[in-house]
Parts: sequence; structure tokens; C-alpha cells
Amino acid sequence: MSIYTVSFPDSKSLPLTVSEHQPLAEVLTVQNSPILFGCRTGICGTCLVEVSGNVPPPDEDERELLEVLAPDHPKARLACQLDLTGDVAMTPLQSA
Ligand code: FES
Repeated sequence: MSIYTVSFPDSKSLPLTVSEHQPLAEVLTVQNSPILFGCRTGICGTCLVEVSGNVPPPDEDERELLEVLAPDHPKARLACQLDLTGDVAMTPLQSA
């Protein structure tokens, strides 16, 4: 199983490691990351982040919410919906 690194360039938090297919909402909450979560199911938008790195494209539901929350932000994603396939850096975003 692959292990990926999640870093938080705009915060003092140290990078965290996440196993392949591990739910990010779970790992990041337990490890006290700067990313906050609410619903964890892709509905509330609390976990809106800007992501740098290679991640699979958003599914239809995530894309629809991103169009509302961050219409001008091509790197915006919902952290709770990310299934990592590589190392990423993420920064919390304010929704529009
Ligand atoms: S925690 Fe609600 S959309 Fe991610």
C-alpha cells in the first residue's frame, strides 16, 4: 500500500502521512491538521481547500458544489472527498 504526504504550506502544521484510500477527514482530524471538517460527505463545504499536486478529478457532485463555493478557483477541492494518488499540499479556502 502506498503512503502519501499531505503538507500545509500556509500553516505551522507539520506534514502528515496518509495511507492509500484512507479517508482524509479521519486522518486529518485525528492528527489535528489545519483543515476543518463538517459533514464529511461532500455537502457542507467546510473542508474547502486549495490543492497542489496530482489528485483524481472531482466527481459530478463535488464539481457542482465547487462551482458554487469557489467558481474562480480551479485548484479548489473538498478535502473530505479526496482519494489521494500522490503527495499533495493543501491550504484552507474561504468559500465564495
Ligand atoms: S466536510 Fe462537508 S464537504 Fe467536506
